[in-house]
Amino acid sequence: MAGCIILIGFMGAGKSTVGKLLAESLKYDFIDTDVEIEKKHNMRISDMFSKYGEAYFRKLEKEYINSILGDTPIVISCGGGSVIDADNVNKLKSLGKIIYLRANEDTILTRTAGNNDRPLLVRENLSRLLAVRDEIYSNCCDECIDTDEYNTKKTVEILMRIV
Ligand code: S3P
Repeated sequence: MAGCIILIGFMGAGKSTVGKLLAESLKYDFIDTDVEIEKKHNMRISDMFSKYGEAYFRKLEKEYINSILGDTPIVISCGGGSVIDADNVNKLKSLGKIIYLRANEDTILTRTAGNNDRPLLVRENLSRLLAVRDEIYSNCCDECIDTDEYNTKKTVEILMRIV
């Protein structure tokens, strides 16, 4: 096991913000899979969805996750849909500890207010998608933190105790 810390959870749960701070606290490098995929393919994820569709993005996401070496411990913030794929889950498990940052619908709406960059964040669909995803995240994580009552700093403090 490479000793990485892998953050999963729904869009807007705070994976990237929390992940960066956690990495600083642990003195680990940090990667955000969405950012890396965008850099590698020089294209916004929202454009990948609109031009080529979700399946295209999922293929690039899978390729990227599969390419993570895990030769040093790092903090990885994963796109919210990455663990739909069983191969991705197995690869991430081989890299380290998977932590689910859970957030309820109200929290997600508050944290994503004003951000229109997520093609799958459709308000009318939110409760249904969240219920489906919650089960997936819960089944593949090693630990879960309910973040609704916590700000970023507090979530990082809790993470520092459990990692
Ligand atoms: C997605 C979440 C997004 C991004 C893409 C699809 C999803 O990442 O990977 O828009 O399926 O939940 P964040 O969880 O970082 O917003």
